[in-house]
Amino acid sequence: MSFHQIKVPFVDLNLQHQPIQTDINQAISQVIERGDFILGQALSEFETAFAKACGVKYAVGVASGTDAIALGLQACGIVPGDEVIVPSNTFIASVIGIIKAGAKPILAECDRQTALIDLAAAAKLVTEKTKAIVPVHLYGQMVSPTQLVDFADTHNLIIFEDSAQAHLAETEGYYAGGFGKAAGFSFYPSKNLGAFGNGGIVTTNDESVAQKMRSLRNYGAPKKYFHSELGTNSRLDTIQAAILNIKLPHLSAWNQQRNQAAEYYNQLLKPLKEQDIFPITNLTGAGHVYHLYVICLNSHLGSKRELIQQKMAARGIQTGIHYPIPCHLQPAYGYLGYQEGDFPIAETLCQNILSLPIYPGITKPQIELVVEELSITVDTLQN
Ligand SMILES: Cc1ncc(COP(=O)(O)O)c(C=O)c1O
Repeated sequence: MSFHQIKVPFVDLNLQHQPIQTDINQAISQVIERGDFILGQALSEFETAFAKACGVKYAVGVASGTDAIALGLQACGIVPGDEVIVPSNTFIASVIGIIKAGAKPILAECDRQTALIDLAAAAKLVTEKTKAIVPVHLYGQMVSPTQLVDFADTHNLIIFEDSAQAHLAETEGYYAGGFGKAAGFSFYPSKNLGAFGNGGIVTTNDESVAQKMRSLRNYGAPKKYFHSELGTNSRLDTIQAAILNIKLPHLSAWNQQRNQAAEYYNQLLKPLKEQDIFPITNLTGAGHVYHLYVICLNSHLGSKRELIQQKMAARGIQTGIHYPIPCHLQPAYGYLGYQEGDFPIAETLCQNILSLPIYPGITKPQIELVVEELSITVDTLQN
C-alpha cells in the first residue's frame, strides 16, 4: 500500500478483537448456555481477575463508569451536603458521578504540562464540608499517588480515583485504582479495556465499601428481597464480563503497544516544538497507558483547530478533542456559579489540544503519515 492510500482511524477495535474472536464467541456461548445473565459466574470471575490485576482485594462490576463514580462515592460514605474536589479538565462524567452521589462538585485548576489536577490549587478549595477528592488519571497518566495520599492525609479527605482512562497504569509502585479508598473504571468500548457495550467497576481494599457496592448496585439489597437502603439497578452484565475475561490477559501487551506508539509520536513530533506544538508531558514514563495521545497547539493554530481537523480528515486521518469545553463552562452546570476565566489553564488547554490516533496495532507508517500531514497542515496555516 502506498503512503497516500493509508488511512488512520481514531481507534480500530477490530485489530484487537479479530485475533481473539473465537475465544470471545465461546465465552458468550457459555453464558447463553448457563443462562446466568445477571450476576453470573463470568462476572464473579472477572471481578476476581480485575481486582488481582489492579493489586486490590475487591472489585464490584457496575453498568458504567459514571455509575462506578456515583455509587462508589456513596459506598465510601459520601452523603448529600458533602463537597468533593474534582478537576475541571476532565470528561463530564467525573462531575456527574459526584452530583449523582448527592455531593457538590468543587472544581479545580489543572497543571499546564500534564493537564492533571493541580494539587496546590486544590488545597485552597478545602473547606469544612470537603470530604473527598476525585483525581482523574486523565489520558492514561496517573496523578502522583504519593502526592495524593499526602494531600488527603493533610486535609483528612477520602481519595476516590477516577481511573476510567487508566486501566493498569502504574506509577510509584501503585496501580491506578489501587491506592485510593476506592476507584471507578469504565469499560466503554474504546477504553483501554473495553466491553461490547457499557460497563464499569469499582475497586477497593475496603471490605465494607465492597459490600456496600454489591448492595447499592442491586436495589440496595444485601440479600434477596430485603432492601436496607436506596439502591439502584447497575450491574455489569455477565455477557460483558465474559468478554472482558477474554480481553483482560491481553491488556498489558495492548498498553505496551500504546506506549510504543506514543514513543514514536514523541520522537517524530520533536521538530514541531519550534512552532510551540508539544505533546502533553508524561511524568510517569512507561506506566502511562496512553488511552489518548494529546498534543497542545500554539494559540494561533488552536484557533484554527477545526480546519486542521478537516484537512487531516480529508487525508483519511481522524483526530479528536478531549475535551473542547472544561466542565466549569458546560451549560448544564451554570448553577454551580463558575465563569469564564475561573480556570485559565484548563480553558487554554481546551482551546488548543488535539488528540492524535492511538490504539494497539497502529503502525509506524500510520504514525508517520499523521505527523507528516500535521506538519504540512501546520506549515500552511501558521501564518
Ligand atoms: C475520565 C472519565 N470518567 C468517567 C467516565 C465515564 O465512563 P462511562 O462512559 O462508562 O460512564 C469516562 C468515560 O466515558 C471518562 O473518560
